[in-house]
Amino acid sequence: MPTLPILSVRNLSVFIGQVQPLRGVSLDIPANRVIGIIGPAGSGKTTFLRTLNRLNDLLPDFRTEGQVLLNGEDIYHPNMNAVALRKRVGMVFALPIPLPMSIYDNVVYGPRLTGIRDRARLDAMVEHTLTAAFLWDEVKDRLHTSGMRLSGGQQQRLCLARTLAMEPELILLDEPCSGLDPISTARIEDALTALKARYTIILVTNNTKQAARVADDTAFFLMGELVEYGNTRQLFTVPRDSRTNDYVTGRFG
Ligand SMILES: Nc1ncnc2c1ncn2[C@@H]1O[C@H](COP(=O)(O)OP(=O)(O)OP(=O)(O)O)[C@@H](O)[C@H]1O
Ligand SMILES: [Mg+2]
Repeated sequence: MPTLPILSVRNLSVFIGQVQPLRGVSLDIPANRVIGIIGPAGSGKTTFLRTLNRLNDLLPDFRTEGQVLLNGEDIYHPNMNAVALRKRVGMVFALPIPLPMSIYDNVVYGPRLTGIRDRARLDAMVEHTLTAAFLWDEVKDRLHTSGMRLSGGQQQRLCLARTLAMEPELILLDEPCSGLDPISTARIEDALTALKARYTIILVTNNTKQAARVADDTAFFLMGELVEYGNTRQLFTVPRDSRTNDYVTGRFG
């Protein structure tokens, strides 16, 4: 029997006032993969991610058509609680923004809000998530110093650890390496590759080489439409659509 995709997007269109940033997007995402999303500026990548955890709900004139199913549940169903949904679908943004508190407290901030107080359990969570984010060795001796004193690349991995602490079903990353040097970028990429054993990851990137390095499957967006989606190697070497070919060979974008 085929396994249910963790995320199933069906004919999704998004409207923000008079603008339509997404048109009829359909794709299925199986568990335990890294999915790359590429496309030129304004193609709808960020809007797509924000629609998956209902961050766009906060915009006044936002509406969707079509369906987004997370493990078979319609996330826009009136009974779906958006706050609970955002625990299930974690997000890491381009600019890491640690909370003004210690590294330790940054990681356990969300779990503490859900009522977890047991010190041993929180300690274990901090070590586990910082290890998974490839940051533990760099910070284990200064867990109680401010997260804001870390470098940009370390702050981004701290934000990843903070997201992991909520044990999300799906992790969204919007250009997480755009401000990072090559070494920090490599650490994030290594972390994502290791994390897919347990998580499903959608990675928006402006860097097509990054998608080629870490994504199992890649989706190419253009002007709000999903032009092509499939195996990364195939999409980069023998794309089905000439527009994909133009983009991945650098002819526009
Ligand atoms: N809040 C908003 N109100 C009106 N239009 C919006 C809003 N957010 C996004 N858009 C429009 O939707 C389109 C897609 O924007 P989006 O931010 O999703 O693109 P993107 O692919 O993430 O681009 P980039 O690579 O520059 O980050 C753009 O034309 C943008 O102007
Ligand atoms: Mg964007």
